[in-house]
Amino acid sequence: MTGHHQLHLRAGGVSLVLDVGAGGPPAVLHWGRDLGTPLAPSSAWVPAVPHSALDVAPRTTMLGSGLARPGLLGSRHGRAFAPQFDEVVVDTVADNEVRLRCVAHAAGLSLATHVRLDPHGVVQVANTLRNEGDAGYQLDRLGVVLPVPAYAVELLDLTGRWSRERHPQRQLFDRQGTWLRESRCGRPGHDAPLLTVLGSAGFGNRSGDVWGAHLAWSGSTQIWAERRPSGLVMLGLAELLEPGEVVLGTGEEYAGPVVHAVFDGAGLDGLSRRLHRSVRSRSGHVRKPRPVVLNTWEAVYFDHRLDRLTALADVAAEIGVERFVLDDGWFLHRRHDRAGLGDWVVDPQVWPDGLDPLIRHVRGLGMEFGLWVEPEMVNVNSDLYRAHPDWVLRPDEATDVLPAEWRHQQVLDLVRPDAWQHIHDRLDALLAQHDIGFLKWDHNRDLVDAGHAGRPAARAQTLAVYRLLDSLRGRHPGVEIESCASGGARVDLGILARTDRVWASDSNDALERVTIQRWTQLLLPPELVGSHVGPTTAHTSGRTHTLSFRGAVALFGHFGIEWDIASIDPEERAALRALVATYRTHRQLLHSGEVVHADHPDPAALVHGVVATDRSEALMAYVAVASGATEIPLPARLPGLDPERAYRVSPVATGGDPVTVAHAAPPWLEAEAFTATGRHLGEVGLPMPVLAPEQALVLHLQAV
Ligand code: DGJ
Repeated sequence: MTGHHQLHLRAGGVSLVLDVGAGGPPAVLHWGRDLGTPLAPSSAWVPAVPHSALDVAPRTTMLGSGLARPGLLGSRHGRAFAPQFDEVVVDTVADNEVRLRCVAHAAGLSLATHVRLDPHGVVQVANTLRNEGDAGYQLDRLGVVLPVPAYAVELLDLTGRWSRERHPQRQLFDRQGTWLRESRCGRPGHDAPLLTVLGSAGFGNRSGDVWGAHLAWSGSTQIWAERRPSGLVMLGLAELLEPGEVVLGTGEEYAGPVVHAVFDGAGLDGLSRRLHRSVRSRSGHVRKPRPVVLNTWEAVYFDHRLDRLTALADVAAEIGVERFVLDDGWFLHRRHDRAGLGDWVVDPQVWPDGLDPLIRHVRGLGMEFGLWVEPEMVNVNSDLYRAHPDWVLRPDEATDVLPAEWRHQQVLDLVRPDAWQHIHDRLDALLAQHDIGFLKWDHNRDLVDAGHAGRPAARAQTLAVYRLLDSLRGRHPGVEIESCASGGARVDLGILARTDRVWASDSNDALERVTIQRWTQLLLPPELVGSHVGPTTAHTSGRTHTLSFRGAVALFGHFGIEWDIASIDPEERAALRALVATYRTHRQLLHSGEVVHADHPDPAALVHGVVATDRSEALMAYVAVASGATEIPLPARLPGLDPERAYRVSPVATGGDPVTVAHAAPPWLEAEAFTATGRHLGEVGLPMPVLAPEQALVLHLQAV
């Protein structure tokens, strides 16, 4: 195909206009608001040629533009470094979906591109490169690059560390240059950007033009934003490949991860609304009500005793828990974190009659049973390592040198078919032999110097893990799986294509969690984000919080408890029971509605919530994260409600009353009943009580 050929994909108020005719990969003429009609005439929408530049303006394709950071990088021992794609074949164009192939005959490469604009306005792009030549082609990068208008002058992405994942960082992005985020650790990492957002000046939760992109990949990643001297602004995303990691033999292909890219004209909530709808529309998305979880980790750690755990299960069932998850410590030699990983058999010393007495007890109480595993790892102090010391990813298979340990563990080489099969069969047997409804699948270290057969192996390992999950899910379709990685170091839509929720963080400190959950939910709807009520004094930070505050935070996710509730007093137990009931009452709303955040002027307070898709009800939280800047709290403007409807507003029990300072509560809160229109609540805002710092008020709004 030669000449310009325009394709106009339109959905949900978004247009993606592609030029697919001029030889190379698709060029993006527009990605943003719905244009209604195609750009005409096609030939007019090409830039001018300035002085001292190429005589023909380079196309801005999904592999980059001119001398910008390229989406495709590689060579055949130095040759074929600049493939000239001289043939384009459009395979299919239907329902906002395009599949096309570009061939670079002289370079011996072909590129298949699949672009889809889903009904929610989310663009999904994936590139696959095939070596058509006679010699090996070393691929160093195959990504997706998307142009963004130059008025997107602010950049927001996320970063973090263990127990403090997904904190936003925002900067002006009006200078020329490249902002590059890389993960080289075989997982997205605690510091993963998650969603990289470029937006118009001052964009907020509810305003501004914003473009965001996410890479659905659970291995190493590279994500960049670039502003060129030419004026072009681009977002790029690719798997990070180490030198020599991918060398394509004749006829071999590399399939790059899917990029999910999203535009909205109404700020970050607009992006999340589209992404949440898109994620919820996946065929494998969890549809059953999200059960109340009790996870044993912060309750008992490695102290596994049947009597202690059955007592915990009794209390759990009594307060309304629906899924009891036995965490780390149940398998051979696992009395601490220095031994046992790899030995996936029940430790007879701790469990002389196996796990079944506990499982029967839990099931008898009407709860589901869940189990912790960490299948990708091995301790050197394990029977598995002693039998197979060569089953470890390492820089060079010819030596005994292992990568540095991390939590006393190494990464099992699942690229080896024998190691993969062994782990697969052990997990398969566990699931076949026991009545297990849920696996918490952990991954507690970065991949460092991780090689297989002397070559970098993060990619092959990631694909092996995907195969492992896919096979086990195929064989045990009723089992749900959680992606955990020392908390939230593996949160991405690649792992979530084969798991049912993520563990957002090892921090159960509610104050930390407010931020971690808000920003995890920039991409993920609340039902996919595990959020537990932890102990009164958080184990990871030493902060003490009321149950009311911990409950108000944990409600807005997939709710659970991670606390030794067998040791709490009857009053607290009753309050927890009420909190569990609150979650169960509202989970249908929380897990199907639209997530909203106000742009509140005082950074000491957060206003967020979930509004039913038909706007008949909502659950809103006013969270005091610090002491307020004003004497009287600024009114909370509640976003997302139907302006024409009246709502009855009532406080919700989250495990006791929030602590108001000197009873400084507004009259509406003390009245019997209070009703106001969505317009008044959204525009004027609701007067708030003076809350002590680290307190929250949760409100239910019911249209009347
Ligand atoms: C790290 C996880 O994030 C924790 O929740 C817990 O499962 C521990 N691993 C167990 O070792």
